[in-house]
Amino acid sequence: MTATTDDTWTAANQGALGPTGRPRPVFPEPSVPSNHGPARVVAMVNQKGGVGKTTTTINLGAALAEVGQKVLLVDFDPQGALSVGLGIDPRPLETTIYDLLMEESDVTAEDALLATSVEGMDLLPSNIFLSGAEIRLVNEVAREYALQRSLEPLLPYYDICLIDCQPSLGLLTVNALTCAHSVMIPLECEFFALRGVALLMESVSKVQERLNKHLEIDGILATMYDPRTLHAREVLATIMQGFGEKVFHTVINRTVRFPDATLAGEPITQFDPGSMGATAYRDLAREVLARWPARL
Ligand SMILES: Nc1ncnc2c1ncn2[C@@H]1O[C@H](COP(=O)(O)OP(=O)(O)OP(=O)(O)O)[C@@H](O)[C@H]1O
Ligand SMILES: [Mg+2]
Repeated sequence: MTATTDDTWTAANQGALGPTGRPRPVFPEPSVPSNHGPARVVAMVNQKGGVGKTTTTINLGAALAEVGQKVLLVDFDPQGALSVGLGIDPRPLETTIYDLLMEESDVTAEDALLATSVEGMDLLPSNIFLSGAEIRLVNEVAREYALQRSLEPLLPYYDICLIDCQPSLGLLTVNALTCAHSVMIPLECEFFALRGVALLMESVSKVQERLNKHLEIDGILATMYDPRTLHAREVLATIMQGFGEKVFHTVINRTVRFPDATLAGEPITQFDPGSMGATAYRDLAREVLARWPARL
């Protein structure tokens, strides 16, 4: 049977092999939560750049909000790409996640919070000031818990909080892992996709041992997959060999609609709601909701 990724999981293709080589399950239609919170916190991490962390944060967040989840996105990269991808220029912002991290500032989480164009999805933005946080936090007591302290007042109001990390395993990423319930790892289906993953897993283990024993690995998300190339299929097979059931059934195909949506400052679910990319992130939303426990 030929595996394609551009069809949705319907009862009709249940049992057909997906791109990961496993039969595709049909994930249930998510139910709209009757009350909200406390949020499950998920860190989007890979120290390799350009693998789809920000794209996944925006589009998974939007797909979750579409099915009634209250979503908080945290831009934890000084580049501010998450904010830009949501149509917000972070450069002139005076209040960002940076201010929340700094203990001496009297800014509250509500002061920094911005609404997005997606109903039910808010953003804690960042800008280049965040690049100074790593150095300033070094001398703080319990420096790994700064983000957890900052997010605590907001979490009761959301169902899911996605943290878009920068491509590094430095103190900011350690902060994200320390306050997260789980970590999601996007991997690009390209040469060297697995390079550095062992180091990333080591960091996750260290955080589990020393700072956050409840941290789980949610899964590996294969991104930028081109089913037409043997190369991409081989890389995905290698990812499957390495991580097996940890790999999400949902695979994100490579399509120019993603950069197009970023330029437009919109999630793909709004920019091109009927596209294959929008469908893929809706599938991922169903898959994660089926994996995560209903209540924390
Ligand atoms: N599935 C995809 N198909 C094609 N292009 C994609 C896809 N996903 C992301 N891109 C594009 O690839 C580039 C990198 O994606 P993204 O910014 O999400 O990666 P990142 O891991 O957040 O990068 P960084 O490590 O620099 O923060 C962006 O231009 C984005 O629009
Ligand atoms: Mg990014």
